[in-house]
Amino acid sequence: MVTMLAYLDHHATTPCATEVLQAMEPWWRQSFANPASRLYRPALEAAAAVELARRRLAGVLATAPDTLIFTSGATEANNLALRGVAEAALERGESRRHLVTLATEHRSVLDPLAWLDRHGFPLTVLPVGPDGLVDLALLEAALSPDTLLLSVMAANNEIGVLQPLAAIARLCRSRGVLLHCDAAQAVGQIALAPDSLGLDLLSLSGHKLSGPKGVGALWRRPGVALAAQQLGGGQEGGLRAGSLAVPLIVGLAAAAVLTEAERPQRTARLAALCERLWQGLAALGGVELNGHASLRLAHNLNISLAGVEGTRLHQALRRQLAVSSGSACSQGSPSHVLAALGRSPQQAAASIRFGLGRDTTAAEIDQAIAAVTAAVVEQRAAP
Ligand SMILES: Cc1ncc(COP(=O)(O)O)c(C=O)c1O
Repeated sequence: MVTMLAYLDHHATTPCATEVLQAMEPWWRQSFANPASRLYRPALEAAAAVELARRRLAGVLATAPDTLIFTSGATEANNLALRGVAEAALERGESRRHLVTLATEHRSVLDPLAWLDRHGFPLTVLPVGPDGLVDLALLEAALSPDTLLLSVMAANNEIGVLQPLAAIARLCRSRGVLLHCDAAQAVGQIALAPDSLGLDLLSLSGHKLSGPKGVGALWRRPGVALAAQQLGGGQEGGLRAGSLAVPLIVGLAAAAVLTEAERPQRTARLAALCERLWQGLAALGGVELNGHASLRLAHNLNISLAGVEGTRLHQALRRQLAVSSGSACSQGSPSHVLAALGRSPQQAAASIRFGLGRDTTAAEIDQAIAAVTAAVVEQRAAP
């Protein structure tokens, strides 16, 4: 019997929803004009479609449309936010230079910040507690009159932990520190209104919310100075040059609206499935949850398994389950997130990240429990 692969890696990417594909469809061939062309009707229609998408995405974030800059994804949005703020500060002759972030951030935040650190913007990378949460007292102590910006993600892509953004935003506001939030894993998954939360910049990505790959956006509070990181045409208010990807932008907005509309029911259903998965796996014994037990995304479960070797475990699972290991997939090095929680390289390797999605079924969860149980029992019997 051939077992179907159960896709439980929705933090890596999500399948594009049928409704999203349908919304994008006309903009590839029939209405393919460049919105910047302006002189003829199809181009004006494309420009109108982009502006409608901007309004729809803004609606999901409860913000104004002109606060959104379309990008190629969250990586670009993060680079634009971080390098853009630093460069704008230099241009204005601003004396603040210090940057702060957390050890568990995504590489698309840590790497541009490390680059800035090498170019005159000293960086503090704060540790997190064993549950993945930042210690607010430690954070407060790290902010100085020289601090320009803090970058904290809304939801972690490995352990699903939700940082206390409202409290962090209040702290930043009281110290005159800009707050950037990588919300690639959070938009459409939790209620998130950057204006009322008191954020200054927020990054998001289409393919994490049942939308297409290759598109995302940066939300910017009006008045936050930003220098463009990609120069050329004057698109996106001069902040992001390049022809607009009309079908992808339409798809991003459709996906955000859909994901947000389905959120209450989906969250409850996936939380129940995650609990079933956890109960099924915890029965094995020697299973530790990575990340806070309740302050986490409803569709995330990340565990470390005692008495098994990571490579063998994932080799045994790979034909039945699409899941992620505690190794950064590209380099095979142990996850910096699990390391920040205090996990050893061996524990990190013997970890599994499950990311459930809108199409995940109870049968797939039972398949996952059975597959992991069989692999672990076999390895523990013959170490
Ligand atoms: C938290 C987080 N930030 C940023 C990114 C990068 O997103 P994109 O693939 O849209 O560049 C990802 C995706 O891996 C992510 O999970």
